[in-house]
Amino acid sequence: MASVALITGASSGIGEATARALARERDMALVLVARREERLSALAGALAVPCTYVAADLTDADAPARIAEHVAREHGRLTLLVNNAGASWRARFADGGYANVRRTMELNFDAVVRLTEALLPLLRESAPSAIVNVASTAARVARPGTGAYSASKFALAGWSDALYAEEASHGVHVGLVLPGFIRTEGFPAHELTARAATRWMVAEPHTAAQAILDAGLRGSAERYVPRHYALAALARILMPGIVRRALRGGAGDVLMTSTGADAAYAASPNGSEPDDRA
Ligand SMILES: NC(=O)c1ccc[n+]([C@@H]2O[C@H](COP(=O)([O-])OP(=O)(O)OC[C@H]3O[C@@H](n4cnc5c(N)ncnc54)[C@H](OP(=O)(O)O)[C@@H]3O)[C@@H](O)[C@H]2O)c1
Repeated sequence: MASVALITGASSGIGEATARALARERDMALVLVARREERLSALAGALAVPCTYVAADLTDADAPARIAEHVAREHGRLTLLVNNAGASWRARFADGGYANVRRTMELNFDAVVRLTEALLPLLRESAPSAIVNVASTAARVARPGTGAYSASKFALAGWSDALYAEEASHGVHVGLVLPGFIRTEGFPAHELTARAATRWMVAEPHTAAQAILDAGLRGSAERYVPRHYALAALARILMPGIVRRALRGGAGDVLMTSTGADAAYAASPNGSEPDDRA
């Protein structure tokens, strides 16, 4: 029986690369989810596997039910859920305040939990199956200006560990992928790619896609991308004072990158629409 994988945030970056990588697997059918319908339609048409899509804002109240209904009607089963859609609006807490934390949590954490809740019955019915949550190295190490983003990804990492333990007996594996700097529309990392001294830190989306396949199809528990970013997480645990001081000073400034969500917010009329790139 065919495997059915649903990828959120499939219209660009890591999600699109994951869809392309999954389409090279045997007996695979795909469900693509994001807001930009024309991107999803074009990608679905370009992939050589059965592919449907749902254009949805994952923060909408009815999005999880709409997506679950689509998957049940069009495919009847689900063997892999890749919770990948996400964004980061950079702001220090004194400037962005609770409003920035709330919108970041709504997309990067709440929407993931809500979609997973809606699809878990089908994932259990279709077991062996898997969920892959795309967090970030920022789920282990927080930098100035990214507190809201780190809060959402720390939450996602913690929740993923608990869900793994709870769902193992139901045949639903839960994997976690923690990318470092990956060059995408949402995270272009111009500041790092512009300088020879930092260019090596930036990887391409297909590397994250391979880690997602390792977690989703081959049972990996957790993958940093690139793998050596795990050292940053280890350093944060073993030397919290040193790492905190380094990130408070020069290292924090060097690693500060602007995002696609920032650019969309700056371009939006009176700043009322935080991330409308449609
Ligand atoms: N690139 C990095 O350096 C990096 C590092 C660590 C973690 N990550 C994580 O990797 C994931 C993918 O990011 P990316 O780098 O591939 O960025 P990206 O190219 O901007 O992709 C983000 C995806 O999320 C979708 N999305 C955003 N808001 C949405 C919403 N409200 N409803 C539905 N879909 C939404 C976007 O599609 P639409 O705009 O069409 O809706 C897009 O397909 C994110 O969770 C991010 O936090 C990225």
